[in-house]
Amino acid sequence: MKLTTRDEEMLAGRHGEPLRKAMASLVTLGRAYGAEDMVDIGYAHIHAGMAMYKDDVQLMEDLADAGAKVAVPSSANIANADLVNWRQTGAPESLVRLQQRAAGAHDRMGSACAFTCTPYWAGHWPTWNTHMVSIESTVTIFCNSVLGARSNRDGFFSVYAAMTGRYPRFGYHLDEARQGTHLVRLEVMPQSVSDFSALGFHVGRSLSGGVAVFDGFAKRPTLDELDALGAALGTSGGISMFIVPGVTPPYATVEDAFPSGRPGSAIVADEAGIRATYDHFTEGDGSFDLVHIGCPHASFEEMKGYARMLDGKRVKASLELWVTTSRSVRNMAAEAGYVAILERAGARVISDTCPMSCHFARTASPDPALGVQPPTLRGMVLDSAKQAKYVRDMVRCPVLLTSTEKAIESAVTGLFLPRFSA
Ligand code: F3S
Repeated sequence: MKLTTRDEEMLAGRHGEPLRKAMASLVTLGRAYGAEDMVDIGYAHIHAGMAMYKDDVQLMEDLADAGAKVAVPSSANIANADLVNWRQTGAPESLVRLQQRAAGAHDRMGSACAFTCTPYWAGHWPTWNTHMVSIESTVTIFCNSVLGARSNRDGFFSVYAAMTGRYPRFGYHLDEARQGTHLVRLEVMPQSVSDFSALGFHVGRSLSGGVAVFDGFAKRPTLDELDALGAALGTSGGISMFIVPGVTPPYATVEDAFPSGRPGSAIVADEAGIRATYDHFTEGDGSFDLVHIGCPHASFEEMKGYARMLDGKRVKASLELWVTTSRSVRNMAAEAGYVAILERAGARVISDTCPMSCHFARTASPDPALGVQPPTLRGMVLDSAKQAKYVRDMVRCPVLLTSTEKAIESAVTGLFLPRFSA
């Protein structure tokens, strides 16, 4: 692989051990994928250091102790606990204290303690053609498909790329990977953010990788709708990029997205497909203890919408309603008065984590000394197919997927309200 003089210096340890180790790992990654050279990156969304996985926070502290710094603007991904308002989640204090140590490591390394899966709502907004890295699939697909930045799904290599400012040129950093492979013909216009999530999950189930090109939206989807679509596509289909002509840079038309010609067949996305996702995530006897909205972490616009829907209402006393968002959006929503409206209604506004990421997960491997005991839940009402999939797999409780509006109504009435009436 072709390396610059500075890459070679880092590799030889001339800039210290952390950078030597980081560059050596990136070279190994690049060789494994046949990269010809490395690119300069302009942004990195990196590993948080996860308190629910033994020694994982220590990994980030070791880097910070060794003097590692990020070389480009960087944000930390979602964590395993709300670091500030953690008591409302029932997290054990020992877990929270460990998670807070990760924040200290990020402070020392110079990465923003965003602790979110939607750093773009918190101001990290890479532009067209910016090479970047991301540990979070939702960030990868949003940045590739909506912003036109260039990102793979990176795992811990994201930290090494942030430290060196470099990344091997392969995958979605190359033009040839950023062209349509599958055509999706829309025969329905999703009615809400949760419908976009259901649509994305449905389409993703027919795919395993590639770039889906959506043809036929009756109107331009909003940023929140595109965010939900991408998160779900990435969950069921392992997709890292989709194209909506007229939205995804630089594609103005379906023809632009398929330089070698339109495929002969198309995946049909109709109302039956959206219904199929809601059905797929309707389990159990309809009972539930918790309602969750805010996956991916809510934007300011979504927080405004939740406040409008909950204003003057009250969550049933026997239930919990969790609203998850980033700490930055939470602060903006608090200043605008939305957090007060939500809390007056009995909702819990939670940052830095989400149900599947927090101490609820039964598939994590925390240090036994932390005393983490995942709660037993009868069921969870959700408005996101991504969260539904991971709650089912990791929290292991029955899930009930519906629209945001009906999830909120379910929290108020105590009765599960499905998206479609029978
Ligand atoms: Fe984010 Fe958790 Fe959903 S990480 S995308 S809120 S499953």
